[in-house]
Amino acid sequence: MLSASDNALMCQVGPGTPTGEMIRQHWIPAIMSRELPNPDSDPVRVRLLSEDLVAFRDTNGNVGLIDSFCPHRRASLFFGRNEECGLRCVYHGWKFDVNGDCVDMPSEPAESNFRDKVKIKAYPCQERNGIVWTYMGPRSELPPLPDIEPNMLPDDAEQSVWTAMRDCNFVQALEGDIDTSHLGFLHLGSVTADKLSPGSYDFYTVRDRAPLGYDVVDTDYGTSYGAWRPAEEDSIYWRVAHFLLPFYTMIPTSVLGWQILVRAWVPIDDEHTMFWNISGPNPFARGIGSAGRGNNVPGASLLPEFLPQGTGFLGRWRLASRAENDYLIDREAQKTNKIFTGISGIHLQDQSVTEQMGAIADRTKEHLGSSDSMVIKTRRRIISASINLQEGMVPATVDRPELYQERSGGTILPKGQGWFEATRELRKAFVDRPELEGADRGPNR
Ligand code: FES
Ligand SMILES: [Fe+2]
Repeated sequence: MLSASDNALMCQVGPGTPTGEMIRQHWIPAIMSRELPNPDSDPVRVRLLSEDLVAFRDTNGNVGLIDSFCPHRRASLFFGRNEECGLRCVYHGWKFDVNGDCVDMPSEPAESNFRDKVKIKAYPCQERNGIVWTYMGPRSELPPLPDIEPNMLPDDAEQSVWTAMRDCNFVQALEGDIDTSHLGFLHLGSVTADKLSPGSYDFYTVRDRAPLGYDVVDTDYGTSYGAWRPAEEDSIYWRVAHFLLPFYTMIPTSVLGWQILVRAWVPIDDEHTMFWNISGPNPFARGIGSAGRGNNVPGASLLPEFLPQGTGFLGRWRLASRAENDYLIDREAQKTNKIFTGISGIHLQDQSVTEQMGAIADRTKEHLGSSDSMVIKTRRRIISASINLQEGMVPATVDRPELYQERSGGTILPKGQGWFEATRELRKAFVDRPELEGADRGPNR
């Protein structure tokens, strides 16, 4: 459990809040490049960290992320005309460029210099491999972009990015990624070991649904865990995963050393989160149907279905199965244990449980057990990073982009080996490991 005040401190992301300011020290994935497809294409409403903004791509292809409200009389710039290297407010014609400079003020006398005195809030943006990154922090000299491996691969075709909105606080959403014990229930609760190939990761998971042990460590980038179950007589199946400040996870799916997958839980506001799935050569597609699983787990499809795209601050990347329709739960499938939850889709199973805790879970009422040790340490880490910043200590992740050069996944180690040391090499990003192709144990979750 967490005190009400710690819970609030950890979850609130608006300007001036400790966690909001801690996140603002970092570059943030703001919007996918393909949402601004062409020069002068339609502006898009983007809420980030409780700030209402408008993104647009100007005539030169540069991306602007500016205040949604015109500084003249507060008209909405979403309705603005995106023309000739700027967004023009339709109320009185003031026009702003991607830097926030007012480049035209036709409602004032030509000789007036008022336009030089007016700026609109504009956050610097950088595009890299399909992601528009933005910096909302205090520095005029910008820190480097983080070394997020799947966003830096040389071949664009090998990379994939998709996003989905979640109606709850970002910590609550990301806690699902660092909670390894739910796999054997929420996602695989209806599966018995005899349906799975011996030797697959799922087989070990289902045979021993509760991991025998967790080892959680603090790292320079955040927190990591190794969760272990027996594999064979002389070996252990380890699930290795990370939390990286301020909101990234690397989950223990697929094979450690081979999987290139980073997930970001970007706060829209205190009660909504944009989930980002940033992957290299698709770690899931590779494994489906291979020894051990995948297709033989009902309700375990990986990609959700989306509603038609809306234009509101909360309108982008909403899922078709959602709270209003109880995530299309199939009670019959639940009753007959065809699908443990009755809800189809891995992402939706996670989405339903985390959203239904309420937008910000009342963590004073929890009862945390030993399987929650990663969740506990990660919460502490977010809180301490936020408090430390107030005392002038900036998280190491801001100025050391190489801290993100990690990988996660499952691996089999001989009994008696310490996972953190033993996996040090396998956890390194930007290393080619063709020898692991054959090590596919089925896509894990
Ligand atoms: S409110 Fe935008 S130009 Fe007047
Ligand atoms: Fe999950």
